[in-house]
Amino acid sequence: ESPQDLAGRNVVVSAGGTREPLDPVRFLGNRSSGKQGYALARTAAARGARVTLIAANTGLPDPAGVEVIPVTTAVELREAVVAAAAEADAVVMAAAVADFRPATYAAGKIKKKDGKEPDPIELVRNPDILAEISAVRPSAGQLVVGFAAETDDVLVNGRAKLRRKGCDLLVVNEVGERKTFGAEENEAVVLGADGSETPVPYGPKEDLADTVWGLVAERLS
Ligand code: PMT
Repeated sequence: ESPQDLAGRNVVVSAGGTREPLDPVRFLGNRSSGKQGYALARTAAARGARVTLIAANTGLPDPAGVEVIPVTTAVELREAVVAAAAEADAVVMAAAVADFRPATYAAGKIKKKDGKEPDPIELVRNPDILAEISAVRPSAGQLVVGFAAETDDVLVNGRAKLRRKGCDLLVVNEVGERKTFGAEENEAVVLGADGSETPVPYGPKEDLADTVWGLVAERLS
């Protein structure tokens, strides 16, 4: 039995990894499976929330009772998040968003040229959705939660990222073989802009999701 502490609340969750097309057959992407975001969507629905799940390239089945909006690129993800955030009590960005995209899209498949070095791929910056939502707060009293997958100096980098992005909570998870990207399990510390630190031990991604919603519900009430 889940607590019904999100009853009557609208929440938006992003999940998965964006893909930035280079040509009709290639993209720049990342290893996010979407599992952590889907666990957040399922647990929020179980706690009574109306959930909009913005899913980037996950291939996972739609969770019951959740509105799923599929997207591909960071620009599409931004549009969907900004639109859904207008009426949301909380926005949780679990998606792994490409910071850059190829500057140009080749309408035809890029060919190798015999005996020549490949052309470099020029990149341009993508919008920072978490920073934008945190700055704009499309809905009054809205709570914004980010994620950070780090490989080194996890807590130091996490604190700096929390300040830079301007969100209320940042879930810092360390990249590892059996956690974070693609795994069924995760382990994290949830950092609060209020200075709080909530460690979540290694376990199913639902456990981390439930801890996040507990912290969100506490701060919304
Ligand atoms: O999907 P799984 O396989 O279950 O894996 C889960 C996960 C590892 C993807 C997830 O737990 C996680 O950590 N997601 C964030 C991944 C990440 O590295 O984020 P980041 O440090 O690049 O970005 C920090 C935050 O800013 C994130 O909330 C991200 O959604 C957001 N962001 C980043 C870049 C950008 N242009 N716009 C953003 O909104």
